[in-house]
Amino acid sequence: MILPIKIYGDPILRKVSVAITKNYLNLNKLIDDMFETMHKAKGIGLAAIQVGLPIRIFIIEATDDETKFYFKGVFINPNIIKFGEEEKYLPEGCLSIPKISGVVKRPDRISIEYLDQNWEKKTEKFEGWESRIIQHEYEHLQGELYTDNLSTMWKSMLSPSLELIEKGTLTGDYLT
Ligand code: CO
Repeated sequence: MILPIKIYGDPILRKVSVAITKNYLNLNKLIDDMFETMHKAKGIGLAAIQVGLPIRIFIIEATDDETKFYFKGVFINPNIIKFGEEEKYLPEGCLSIPKISGVVKRPDRISIEYLDQNWEKKTEKFEGWESRIIQHEYEHLQGELYTDNLSTMWKSMLSPSLELIEKGTLTGDYLT
């Protein structure tokens, strides 16, 4: 089932998500629906808060044929326990902020603890795109968006578009 994606300006995106327990109802169905929603929107990551549920879960499925890059995961109750020192600048977009992208500075490496879809506890290190996508989705769980942490230049470049998105004038095809 395709779920409606919450868009920039919706106050729910600013909520801090809460941890869930194994008793959370119909979690596998929610995860399936999140993948379906993300695929339809041609996204590579989606946090539950983006479909209106302030719970600590996000999914990722990203692929790049040219570099044979493939990364898929379900992250439940994640906790980034360490950020690497080296930082990189790369462009990012977000399904909740349609049509635009901005260059975001982030640490290249992270260590993260989380539960996978089988509720198995994992502690893993990620770098490069995997690390970046995880950090982007993780921010959603804190009520943050990538546009919060842009440089002054990028903020001023994107602010007219952000106003239009907030008004509903600038929208994504996948939202109709
Ligand atoms: Co996003």
